[in-house]
Amino acid sequence: MSVMSDKKPEENRNVDTSKVVVGKSRVHGNGVFAACDIAKGEKVIEYVGRVVTKKEADKIADEQLEKSNGHKDCGGVYIFELNKKYDVEWNVEWNSARYINHSCEPNCETEGDDEHVWIEALRDIKKGEELGYDYCYDIDNWDEHPCECGASDCVGYIVAEKERGELGK
Ligand SMILES: C[S@@+](CC[C@H](N)C(=O)[O-])C[C@H]1O[C@@H](n2cnc3c(N)ncnc32)[C@H](O)[C@@H]1O
Ligand SMILES: [Zn+2]
Repeated sequence: MSVMSDKKPEENRNVDTSKVVVGKSRVHGNGVFAACDIAKGEKVIEYVGRVVTKKEADKIADEQLEKSNGHKDCGGVYIFELNKKYDVEWNVEWNSARYINHSCEPNCETEGDDEHVWIEALRDIKKGEELGYDYCYDIDNWDEHPCECGASDCVGYIVAEKERGELGK
């Protein structure tokens, strides 16, 4: 288990993208596809961005929320927490992983510690397959995020797996 530190993580702008290719997705807009066969448990690509302090992150989040108001295709806030002191703004041009779409039957997951976030394979993935992970959106405002992932058990909305049962109620 990781312990929350307050160390400033090094920013990785030289990301190894050799296992992926960005292209037109059947799910939504652009997506990310396996450029080679990938084994279960393998790190696929590092999920990177601009390292900012919590204070800077709050300001950015407010601005992003204002911008995304009423724009359904806009993910809203592009910030994730790294540790006690620093967050990452991930909607940056050198983060190809930002194009990975949500899937209700994901072949990837995010794994992280206080300094890095990785996209990891949940199962063996064949070259050419689109990558997807569970965005883990909470159930609030579920109807604002329709899901087009195409999985046989897709619930029609982007909602975290652990809360999907609530949608049937
Ligand atoms: C971080 S972007 C993913 C990349 C996006 N496809 C693009 O071209 O910019 C997140 C946005 O993609 C769309 N998206 C992602 N997964 C989706 C899915 N399973 N069904 C429908 N739209 C999805 C939503 O609009 C979401 O807000
Ligand atoms: Zn779905």
